[in-house]
Amino acid sequence: MNEVLKDRFIKKNAQIAIIGLGYVGLPLAIELANVGFKVFGIDTCENKINNIENGKSYIESIKDESIKAVINKNLFIGNDYSVISKADSIIICVPTPLNKAKEPDMSYIIDATEEISRYLKEKTLVVLESTTYPGTTEELIIDTIEKKRNYKVGKDFFACYSPERIDPGNTKFNIQNTPKIIAGSTPICLELGVALYDSFVERIVSVSSLKVAEVIKLFENSFRSVNIALVNELTQILERMNIDVWEVIEAASTKPFGFMSFYPGPGIGGHCIPLDPMYLSWRAKKENYYSRFIELSSDLNVNMTRYIVKQISNILNKKEKALKNSKILIIGIAYKKDIDDLRESPAIKIYELLEEQESKVKYYDPYIDCFEYKDKVVYSQKIEKKILQESDLVVIITDHTHIDYQYIIDNSRIVYDTRNITKKYEGNNIILLGENIK
Ligand SMILES: NC(=O)c1ccc[n+]([C@@H]2O[C@H](COP(=O)([O-])OP(=O)(O)OC[C@H]3O[C@@H](n4cnc5c(N)ncnc54)[C@H](O)[C@@H]3O)[C@@H](O)[C@H]2O)c1
Repeated sequence: MNEVLKDRFIKKNAQIAIIGLGYVGLPLAIELANVGFKVFGIDTCENKINNIENGKSYIESIKDESIKAVINKNLFIGNDYSVISKADSIIICVPTPLNKAKEPDMSYIIDATEEISRYLKEKTLVVLESTTYPGTTEELIIDTIEKKRNYKVGKDFFACYSPERIDPGNTKFNIQNTPKIIAGSTPICLELGVALYDSFVERIVSVSSLKVAEVIKLFENSFRSVNIALVNELTQILERMNIDVWEVIEAASTKPFGFMSFYPGPGIGGHCIPLDPMYLSWRAKKENYYSRFIELSSDLNVNMTRYIVKQISNILNKKEKALKNSKILIIGIAYKKDIDDLRESPAIKIYELLEEQESKVKYYDPYIDCFEYKDKVVYSQKIEKKILQESDLVVIITDHTHIDYQYIIDNSRIVYDTRNITKKYEGNNIILLGENIK
């Protein structure tokens, strides 16, 4: 029986259910459908289901055509979990946010597992891809299914953990060519998981336990958070010394070993880097370990937004202006370049801080038409001479590729660039993040 299931994965004629059709689940569902699997996509959000049904993408990196090519052919979507009873494998891609107390919110995994348990047939492979703390697959998924169904893992059903490492907006690395970490609860679980992923991913990296696989993702993103925090701190040190942090990093990056470039910026955003390290530090506390490094990095990165606002205030001050009533235009409100994701975006935090100071703030983002702030909807502006000339300061927060920066520089009074995107352009009205504003 296990061999039959493995064979279906290898021959790509298995039926796969994807739970959660967001930034992780939708691309995965399309990829699986493209290579030949029959895919059932399940999401609780009616809006998303309607969009997919109508061939409309809500994710920047996915074209409408990619959905239209598979919808109702190999990909079938809805909110009805009963299709689980037909699935050979179920891949869970639901959110794992933090709650208000900055602790893991496991409610989405718990809810999804409850529903899966109602319909799961014997000999199905269940894979968790959501980012989470070590122990989750065992405690929240395997234990629940074993109790609810009286199934035994490795015998009646199979379980793996395989973290998604997708980098939104990255055109070089995708699902196929990003090595896939995977661990199984038992050797047979792992063998089946490898057979499934091997059918559409170039390189599979098997590890010895679910917990190892779970912690890898947290370590990868803690590594990024810590290194970004280090350059953010360096920026503030070098500002006081009148030393150009950008030049320091560029020259340091010529070292062919033992150095990796990270760049300062307005802070970190998205569903991963600000959150994942907190999962590790929360779990560490249960072992009576207070992770200073991770928490400190988070603090430093979060506080970059305040540093940016302080620099904006200093720049305006030099022009004998205050934050209050100054017209400020933010370029780029998404959390990083070339994507339409606002989650945890430092640009939003900067917008809020400036609003609190009663600045007159507007924004332009080619990827984000509007966002909600308090009780109003804020709309993206058009980049025209008038708005640039009227603004006391234009601040580049997110360095989207397809923006005419030279036009912005040529028509603005002052451009404050928090990403060093203007290095390729000319203008004597540019001030860089970290510059000493006297
Ligand atoms: N976005 C990224 O770049 C990225 C990268 C790697 C890993 N991850 C991780 O992957 C997971 C998913 O992230 P995402 O960015 O795709 O989130 P998302 O919010 O974009 O998508 C999650 C989807 O799950 C749906 N959902 C919630 N509860 C559900 C339920 N009970 N049943 C069915 N659907 C449900 C939501 O409606 C939503 O559409 C998270 O753990 C995240 O940390 C995200």
